[in-house]
Amino acid sequence: MRRKIVAGNWKMNLSLAEGYQLAESVKSETKVIKPAGTDIVLCTPFIHLKGVSDIVQDSGIATGAQNCSNEKSGAFTGEISASMIKSAGARWVIIGHSERRSLFAETDNLVLRKTSAAIESGLRVIFCCGEVLAERERNDHFRVVKRQLDEGLLGLQVSDFSKTVIAYEPVWAIGTGVTASPIQAQEMHGYIRSLVQEAYGTTVARETLILYGGSCKASNAAEIFSMPDVDGGLIGGASLNSAEFAGIIRAAEL
Ligand code: PGA
Repeated sequence: MRRKIVAGNWKMNLSLAEGYQLAESVKSETKVIKPAGTDIVLCTPFIHLKGVSDIVQDSGIATGAQNCSNEKSGAFTGEISASMIKSAGARWVIIGHSERRSLFAETDNLVLRKTSAAIESGLRVIFCCGEVLAERERNDHFRVVKRQLDEGLLGLQVSDFSKTVIAYEPVWAIGTGVTASPIQAQEMHGYIRSLVQEAYGTTVARETLILYGGSCKASNAAEIFSMPDVDGGLIGGASLNSAEFAGIIRAAEL
């Protein structure tokens, strides 16, 4: 049985104090739930990362960033490198989120370079992919996701690929309140697993975690997570409320 991951993506929300408070609450809720088969990750804004990592230390909760530079160091004003993220106590980084792709013009190639930089620095990567509504409506969603994976991820050496998990996030479901149906999610997750199998073989495909993201909340998580190829979720809005987030962790444990 694969483990599950429930990862919160706080995006650009919460003051430092609010973020610390949320981390404390998630830690308390997690102590009660004692998840046995689910790993929990809090992907915070950069400035929260060290403090939140300290708060959740020894609680079994890991932390992550939401982006990193593809460069190692140097004159890149405003950028944050993967090794800096690691030095703040984080173990994870989200790469290729649709908001980065669409609002900050991140191409598949840049996503690949960021993924490689993150792995080289010892971070694990939550690699995001997913189609926009128009692509789904013209039945192009499989092709789009295949391109994102082929160009951004599946060229890695298997030893590097094994440091990644994939998050399928249909863009039309992110922050909209519209979730992919469990059947739509399973269909794409199964397809993604078949692509991983083609690239790396059956054993690696069987071990790869594929998360769902897009308006996932406590009330719909159990249904989506019960699908055979869905191994947890990347949670935006619902990760900002500890009770709601706890409900999603419980759903992953079912
Ligand atoms: P959402 O965001 O849960 O608010 O839809 C998910 C994400 O963008 O990772």
